[in-house]
Amino acid sequence: MRRIHSFASGPSCLPEEVLCEIRDDLLDWRGSGMSVLEMPFTCPEYRAIAAAAERDLRALLAIPDSHRVLFLQGGAYAHFDLLAMNLLTPGCSADYIVTGLWSERAALQARRHGAVRIAVSSAHDGHRGIPPHARWQLDPAAAYCHLTSNETAHGVQFNELPDTGAVPLVVDVTSDFLTRPIDVSRCGLLYASAQKNAGCAGVTIVIVREDMLRDAAVVTPPAFDYRRQAEARGCVNTPPTFGIYCAGLMFAWMRRHGGVPAFAQIAERRSVRLYEVIDELPLYHCPVDRAHRSRVNVCFKLATPELEREFLDEAARHELHHLEGHAAVGGIRVSLHNATPERSVETLLAFMREFAKRQRTAA
Ligand SMILES: Cc1ncc(COP(=O)(O)O)c(C=O)c1O
Repeated sequence: MRRIHSFASGPSCLPEEVLCEIRDDLLDWRGSGMSVLEMPFTCPEYRAIAAAAERDLRALLAIPDSHRVLFLQGGAYAHFDLLAMNLLTPGCSADYIVTGLWSERAALQARRHGAVRIAVSSAHDGHRGIPPHARWQLDPAAAYCHLTSNETAHGVQFNELPDTGAVPLVVDVTSDFLTRPIDVSRCGLLYASAQKNAGCAGVTIVIVREDMLRDAAVVTPPAFDYRRQAEARGCVNTPPTFGIYCAGLMFAWMRRHGGVPAFAQIAERRSVRLYEVIDELPLYHCPVDRAHRSRVNVCFKLATPELEREFLDEAARHELHHLEGHAAVGGIRVSLHNATPERSVETLLAFMREFAKRQRTAA
């Protein structure tokens, strides 16, 4: 069996343990005589799968009873619009903290549904860090304050949740979901696409505080009306059943392997080792402020696009794949997900050293 070293930002690699479970369950889920792919979402077998997924996620993140967990369709990009349709009540405005491509897009989409203020933006310096809190111009009357905890394309990550006073925080946690603890009780709403650390594409996890479940804009499709979905326990329409099953397997796998704190340590250790190599070798350059470098998406550049191409081509010959930076940013991006095997990171580190050595010799 061929397994490449994938550093894709998503869909990302899955643990072999989980892939084997999916294979073993595929034709007959635990003696039910059905594949999960064939289960009606109303049957007891599927209900048990969905309930276990929610239970394990709640345990992993210590989600308080005040917050509901919704497994919806759409993807985080769709929820940029949907959350504004649900939360941006007429006459209110929302604050957006712009620290990279994804928060920029989130603000752009929300603007189609109501008033949006950019409380601060790091666009002027190419999104290389997080502007100091003193520069943020927060509106104390905002319906919510949105931020992206980890900017996947720019490799910029918040170290902690900011204080926004009484204004509820709405956080796109898509790319660092479950890679470190997060105090859910401090958030009005969190959302994440699943295909990075919670299984396969097709599921969006929305964790929302009960009091944020408001009257959605009338044009909101019922399947994306958060309050209706919470009332119907996610069954207003057919839930993404197979994706929820995969997410559940990922949550159970994480619990077996030490939970979020264990994976946070792994992310810290691996990213530190990568940044050490980048900072040590003059061939590589990371433009992100040291204080806000992502532990999940390590982004760096080489001197020219041609040299970056050579790096990528050579890496592919070592079975190191999906290292291209986001198209809007360029450069190289190493995405380190919970399931990224240790041997992939070791192979990459060795390759980076060897590539740099060869360039020095050739010069
Ligand atoms: C932080 C962040 N938000 C939103 C998205 C969009 O997610 P999707 O493509 O699943 O809609 C991505 C995709 O990579 C992302 O990294």
